[in-house]
Amino acid sequence: MCGIIAYAGKNNATDCIYEGLKNLEYRGYDSAGIAVKRGDDIFVCKREGRVKNLEEGINGVRGRFAIGHTRWATHGKPSDRNAHPHFVGGFYVVHNGIIENYAELKAELLAEGRSFFSETDSEVIPHLINKYYEGDLLCAVALAVRRLKGSYALCIMHENFSGVIAVCNKSPAILGYGKGEYFVCSDAPAIADMAEEICVLCDGDIAVITEKSVKIYNDRLELQVRERVANFASKASLDLGDCPHYMLKEIKEIPTAVQNTITACEAVDLQKLSAFLQGVDKVVLTGCGTAFHTCLIAKDWVEEFCSLCAVAETAGEWRYKKSPVNEKTLVVAVSQSGETADTLEAARLAKKYGARVIAITNVGYSAITRIADFTIPVVAGAEICVAATKSYCAQLISLWFLIAVLAKVNASTYEQLFKRAYTMPQLCEKTINGLSLDALCEKIKEASGVYFIGRGLDCAVAKEGSLKLKEVSLKPGEGYASGELKHGTLALIDKSTYSVAVMSDENLCEKNLSAIKQITARGGKVAAVCSCKEYIKKLLSVCDFVISIPKCDRALSPIISVLPLQYIAYKVAVLCGCDPDKPRNLAKSVTVE
Ligand code: F6R
Repeated sequence: MCGIIAYAGKNNATDCIYEGLKNLEYRGYDSAGIAVKRGDDIFVCKREGRVKNLEEGINGVRGRFAIGHTRWATHGKPSDRNAHPHFVGGFYVVHNGIIENYAELKAELLAEGRSFFSETDSEVIPHLINKYYEGDLLCAVALAVRRLKGSYALCIMHENFSGVIAVCNKSPAILGYGKGEYFVCSDAPAIADMAEEICVLCDGDIAVITEKSVKIYNDRLELQVRERVANFASKASLDLGDCPHYMLKEIKEIPTAVQNTITACEAVDLQKLSAFLQGVDKVVLTGCGTAFHTCLIAKDWVEEFCSLCAVAETAGEWRYKKSPVNEKTLVVAVSQSGETADTLEAARLAKKYGARVIAITNVGYSAITRIADFTIPVVAGAEICVAATKSYCAQLISLWFLIAVLAKVNASTYEQLFKRAYTMPQLCEKTINGLSLDALCEKIKEASGVYFIGRGLDCAVAKEGSLKLKEVSLKPGEGYASGELKHGTLALIDKSTYSVAVMSDENLCEKNLSAIKQITARGGKVAAVCSCKEYIKKLLSVCDFVISIPKCDRALSPIISVLPLQYIAYKVAVLCGCDPDKPRNLAKSVTVE
């Protein structure tokens, strides 16, 4: 949610920031802006909409220092005026996060005779720095941020300062070290191939970046030493190759993501993890959106294979509940980005209540890894499309690994269970290669509403299929348990609607068939996703379309049955004229609450 970037170095700062902003655009695309220090003055260009809208305005602008921003609007509508950087009295600021006490700060600053140009919360920051400035930018920044409540990653420039200051508090900020150049950014892929090493700033850090050096201070301005690690993000992960969109590219990368995650899980210190899980008597799984849907599946796995009580709850709900947890409770926080505000807060609360916390994340340096006691990696590679696809499948592998170890702790065998995942990469590949859904997508495009149903594990897959279609194609609909149909949603079914029934458990096929008949009896059309050969014939006589997927391990079927649904969402979005990579009103990494 909002991407920030800064540059100090020997090359043209404008080009580096523009390149970085294009890489960061998935974090917000309501507006973009850049400020470049040219000698003693600072050039600013801000545009509503996409990063490419800056191109004409910044053409020919050169400098050694610059800051940039791509916005996901929270306070104030998308507009040139509300675009960052915000500037007051020679101080220029880009901000990712939310200033919770901005209203009272703004009232105080207005009472002092200051005026505001934008509707944003962020504009109080350059005002505060300006207020506290007495010739030393670092001191002014330290005093200003002490007044802020909320989350913020900031990059700051001043007319009289040859460099950039970065601040981090509950929003990601990463320093990048290149050859004769330094960067600050929200996410390492943004500076892939520009910075060889990265260093993750901690909450309270203030970094001073000049052409020659980087110094990191804490909030009391004491020098800090922070670990630098290799920047493994590569430009290749950002290249679309032959694919027209990241969403399609990332669906095609699922077999590799699943295989890489299996390999990474097998490298986890099993002894250490088993010891950590000893004595666990309850499991809480939490996350948001797609990550939450993987929690729903893992909850059933815990109950079935570990014989433990399990709860799956969205992080945005769980954090406000008085859920009984103690030192025997395992809280599993699932997040692709590792930066989702609600999931981070749920993990912090779990720690506070004494629970054991495991993070399942695709970003090894993200905030959630610093909160959790233990991290199980997801190795999906950079996911640029806002809609999660490959990370969902890879998260399920990491969760399956955790459940296999937990089952072992509870007297089953880890090896037998985990190796059931070995066939999944090939099965994903076979499923993706066999998809022929364009005719179906043309029909779904015309539907007034699209409803996804399933039972057992397929219910979570139905919810995920519905979420994906809604967000990328803007088609209204719902995903719910087949058995719930007659308790309400059936009222919405008529001949203008389309339903998708997910059926990967042969024990539940008969029940699903009767739900399908309830829909067709009301004139609704149905496509069935089915892996049970014996049912395909029956389905062909009732359904408008049948998607036959390969048979696989029942427990792991959510990794396969989601694939046609992801593709349907992608294709329908394209047919509807939507950009599947940048859904309306959304952005990746929801760092605001
Ligand atoms: C949907 C989607 C979102 C994310 C959610 C959590 O396609 O991508 O629902 O799953 O915002 O994000 P992470 O996993 O980064 O915590």
